[in-house]
Amino acid sequence: MEGGWPLMRSFFLCLTVSLLLQGRGDSFTINCSGFDQNGVDPAAFQAVFDRKAFRPVINYSIPTHVNISFTLSAILEVNAQLQLLTSFLWMDLVWDNPFINWNPKECVDINKLTISAEKLWLPDIFIMESMDVDQTPPGLTVYVNSEGRIKYDKPMRVTSICNLDIFYFPFDQQNCTFTFSSFLYTVDSMVLGMDKEVWEITDTSRNIIQTQGEWELLGINKATPKMLVGSNLYDQIMFYVAIRRRPTLYVINLLVPSGFLVAIDTLSFYLPAESGNRAPFKITLLLGYNVFLLMMNDLLPASGTPLISVYFALCLSLMVVSLMETIFITYLLQLATSEPPPMPQWLHSLLLHCTNPRKCCSTASQEGNKVLGVTPTQLPDLKEPVELVGKMPSSGEAELNGCPESTRAQQEHEVQKQHLVGLWVQFSHMMDTLLFRLYLLFLASSIVTVVVLWNT
Ligand SMILES: *[C@@H]1O[C@H](CO)[C@@H](O)[C@H](O)[C@H]1NC(C)=O
Ligand SMILES: *[C@@H]1O[C@H](CO)[C@@H](O)[C@H](O)[C@H]1NC(C)=O
Ligand SMILES: *[C@@H]1O[C@H](CO)[C@@H](O)[C@H](O)[C@H]1NC(C)=O
Ligand SMILES: *[C@@H]1O[C@H](CO)[C@@H](O)[C@H](O)[C@H]1NC(C)=O
Repeated sequence: MEGGWPLMRSFFLCLTVSLLLQGRGDSFTINCSGFDQNGVDPAAFQAVFDRKAFRPVINYSIPTHVNISFTLSAILEVNAQLQLLTSFLWMDLVWDNPFINWNPKECVDINKLTISAEKLWLPDIFIMESMDVDQTPPGLTVYVNSEGRIKYDKPMRVTSICNLDIFYFPFDQQNCTFTFSSFLYTVDSMVLGMDKEVWEITDTSRNIIQTQGEWELLGINKATPKMLVGSNLYDQIMFYVAIRRRPTLYVINLLVPSGFLVAIDTLSFYLPAESGNRAPFKITLLLGYNVFLLMMNDLLPASGTPLISVYFALCLSLMVVSLMETIFITYLLQLATSEPPPMPQWLHSLLLHCTNPRKCCSTASQEGNKVLGVTPTQLPDLKEPVELVGKMPSSGEAELNGCPESTRAQQEHEVQKQHLVGLWVQFSHMMDTLLFRLYLLFLASSIVTVVVLWNT
């Protein structure tokens, strides 16, 4: 304690002299006599601590070189709505302080020391994208080696702004930037550099990130453009951090159930249209799908229009379209069985052509037989036509028994009507098949489109 004042005075004398005499680094050698008895003498470093307020250089026209590196230790959250990435970094800064210098041989072989960071000048490096105040924990220390090289590591929770594009959700990749720059010092005073390669940073980060969370680190790139603000040029280092979402959760919870529901909806076309089960079934599916969408809404990004929303809308519209088709076919069948309107000639020939192209050609000569010939062969699998076929012999019997004219005409009318019903039923089934094929085509093309979009 008593030796403190003379020591300091001699040190300051030493400083002034050395500054006058060209300011060589050697003059700032720390006197460590007594380190072996009393530990590190704070007085020996007092001169350095007193300079804390100023950038530690001997010649002020020489910029301070600061080497930057970082380790990404966690990706905590990606918020698409606010466009924020919350991550945890360990930032490493290395620079030289020419006022710290000692000879390890004289100083009981001490090669490096830890010093409280608050006692020293620290470069004001910050991350430009950061949208939160620096939450550096207090009481950090730095390593100083005997040549005055200072190594300062600080943990940082960084909430940085990042241009998030969720169009490809859940198969999306994001490219977020961390721009390290000095807040105040221009290139004349501070130059940034790196002592590690980017791949080293990437490898360390990959090993450190233990969490198997939603995001996976793909790679880190860097660029070093200088930033011009007004007439001041600032040095900066930009790191592009590419991260990818792990999509399994979303595939299992969103895409697969949705796909299954559409598949069931497609299969329900095989339910017979006459049974009347098809429409209720499809309505139930539609309801179920709506409930599913409501429940899974939380998993979707809160903003933007990702492709997955388009996919859901597509699934929903496919279901609605298939329900509409069912309603149309049910209406047609109802119309056909209750009050069949006269069938236009063109529709009739089209029907014949489409249902039985070969037969219609071979029997074209026998007009009368053709009409009757088609009906029984085409209709056995249908409900009403079966009844119709059953009725026909009975009407034939009645004819043989020699009924009066009016009954005969009535019967003929009845036969013709049944025939018309048969034709309309046949037409309805044809429409059903045709629309089902169109639906399948639409389904296939939309699946292909979505898959192609997702892969680009
Ligand atoms: C170092 O300090 C001691 C006293 O603590 C003093 O006796 C010695 O002369 C100093 N050495 C130098 C090189 O200034
Ligand atoms: C400081 O550095 C500048 C540029 O390197 C040089 O021109 C100047 O002479 C130096 N001044 C002193 C006192 O060494
Ligand atoms: C910074 O890194 C460069 C390149 O690795 C190295 O030459 C230089 O000495 C380092 N400077 C500091 C202050 O660490
Ligand atoms: C990230 O974006 C920057 C430009 O903004 C680009 O140079 C870099 O290559 C991108 N990185 C990846 C992995 O896409």
